[in-house]
Amino acid sequence: MEQAMKNFFLFLSKNQTLNAAAKKWGLRFGANRFVSGETIDEAIAVVRQLNENGLTCTLDHLGEFVFSVEEANESADYCIKTLEAIHRSGVDCNLSLKMTSLGLDISRELCMTNMRRILDTAKQYGNIFVRIDMEDYAHNQVTMDILEELLHEYDNVGTVIQAYLYKAADDIEKLKDKKVNFRLVKGAYKESPEVAFPEKADTDENYKKIIRQHLLNGGYAAVATHDEQIIAYVKQLVEEHNIPRSQFEFQMLYGIRTQSQIDLAREGYKMRVYVPYGKDWYGYFMRRLAERPANVAFVLKGMFSK
Ligand code: FDA
Repeated sequence: MEQAMKNFFLFLSKNQTLNAAAKKWGLRFGANRFVSGETIDEAIAVVRQLNENGLTCTLDHLGEFVFSVEEANESADYCIKTLEAIHRSGVDCNLSLKMTSLGLDISRELCMTNMRRILDTAKQYGNIFVRIDMEDYAHNQVTMDILEELLHEYDNVGTVIQAYLYKAADDIEKLKDKKVNFRLVKGAYKESPEVAFPEKADTDENYKKIIRQHLLNGGYAAVATHDEQIIAYVKQLVEEHNIPRSQFEFQMLYGIRTQSQIDLAREGYKMRVYVPYGKDWYGYFMRRLAERPANVAFVLKGMFSK
């Protein structure tokens, strides 16, 4: 049943008609629990509040289904505006983005041009770090290749390794010497058993394996999870191997396990909250519901209390 719900929400997340409608509706159905607002000013206000609680942040301007060069460039402009707002407001925050929204499906050159525009701006504003979110498997290798190319020119860029993929450990090993700043996650998309572990228990095991591998290789790890067992594992691992707290951070999504976020920061760990914003909230919201169908009850309550 849970798997069926998960697949249902992942299916809904790809529905372009609902996505277009959602842009007109404005933040609804409890989506504001996971999305900080529709404008950059609303998002910066949320980041400022999180900073006051000892939490650092990463801002993501939400964007799905980019089909034209104009849409891709507009999406890159939003990233640049986000960097300007981070710089202007002085908040403790970096940037996350998705390369399909910068035109990756249109052409690699277009995406590279937009990436360079964004990374140059980030550099100019004090070398703000830019994280390339990892999307589905169809975009995985091209993302790794683009990262490798960008690493020759920039030191303020990194991407994400998904533990559910069989290739995760190899990808880390390949870039071992570059000491890449990787965000390590379990993986959020529906993938074929040909490329990804079908069983959650295997993903969890591989997640521990790649966290250990990357940290012991000396790389910077952003461990992005709400899983308490994984967090406990990381705490023990860094203790055992004398890994300094400057070599890793925890990350969680805005609106999920909020108290744990504050607790980790109070314990002295670097804790970064992923703060999405923008009118294009629908796909992101559906993926969060897919992760935890229990949230649907919360959403239904939100729908009927309006
Ligand atoms: P798991 O799914 O096992 O959940 C552990 C516990 O956390 C659950 O039992 C539940 O209590 C709680 N929990 C998890 N999700 C919840 C939710 N939606 N609502 C309420 N409680 C919830 N993926 C990807 O493919 N590419 C990417 O670039 C990123 N980026 C990213 C950034 C950040 C900051 C985070 C935290 C996550 C991602 N992810 C991601 C998503 C990631 O791959 C994964 O799908 C989710 O984090 C859920 O997995 P957990 O590790 O939290 O464990």
